[in-house]
Amino acid sequence: MRGIILAGGYGTRLYPLTEVTSKHLLPVYDKPLIYYPLSVLMLAGITDILIISTPAHMHQYEQVLGDGKKLGIKLHYMKQEKPEGIAQAFLLAESFIGSEDVGLILGDNIFYGQGLPRMIKQAINDHQGATLFCYEVNDPARFGVLTFSNDGSVQAIDEKPAYPNSNWAVTGLYIYDADVVQMAKTLTPSARGELEITDINNAYLRDGRLRVVKIGRGSAWFDTGTPQSMLSAAVFMEMIEQRQCVKVGCIEEVAFRMGYISKAELLKLAEPLKDRVYGQYLLRVATEEA
Ligand code: G1P
Repeated sequence: MRGIILAGGYGTRLYPLTEVTSKHLLPVYDKPLIYYPLSVLMLAGITDILIISTPAHMHQYEQVLGDGKKLGIKLHYMKQEKPEGIAQAFLLAESFIGSEDVGLILGDNIFYGQGLPRMIKQAINDHQGATLFCYEVNDPARFGVLTFSNDGSVQAIDEKPAYPNSNWAVTGLYIYDADVVQMAKTLTPSARGELEITDINNAYLRDGRLRVVKIGRGSAWFDTGTPQSMLSAAVFMEMIEQRQCVKVGCIEEVAFRMGYISKAELLKLAEPLKDRVYGQYLLRVATEEA
């Protein structure tokens, strides 16, 4: 199983915040945005991950995350010269994917919920074709939206419809078999000039190979593409972290809890940070588990 984090694009809706910084490195409360989607893939058991970003920002990601060794995972990097839609990721990642299944997560998507890792792992185990994760929202017109038949099966997916047929949005977490690469090759750009992930999903739907998993109550999903949604996500994280005395999206902790690194390795990561809140938290995690 391979993982991809798409961290490209110009982040135009966040200008001027994104004038010199990549959107996915902006802070969401106490850590860079990309920590959250990376931790989701890691919690799902995916440890071979390609990060796709713009030529201007690639080196910043390499600086922040490195080759993944300190987290017990493998991180690879690829430049997206020009953002031409989410589905372009599969064209860029063709040789990385090879004949494996692949989990794609958008770098600006944040998921929170205790049951989520199990739900994603289960979806990976049962996997055939494509699996989408959907979430009920108040503002569906911003997203890919599901239309259901009377029997509850998915009839169609529309990208940012003016008149959505349901409140169920397609989140930015997708699992595909290796056929996704060939499917991406058949796409033509949409009216907004992008290779749409929704066209891929509709192709799997037409083939009868699309599964939809509904993310239920008790879990939260944020697409942080706008200043307002970014602030909401930050406020949410502040509240959870302060109330529960835990960190969300702490990649070193996830690496330890998933068994990718040992206690000694976590302590080694924490040691140089021990005068910082983040390092103190890592020390606590390492010693609590003792
Ligand atoms: C993209 C997808 C959309 C999906 C959303 C989730 O939208 O095109 O189908 O619902 O991500 O974050 P975009 O980020 O292009 O607005």
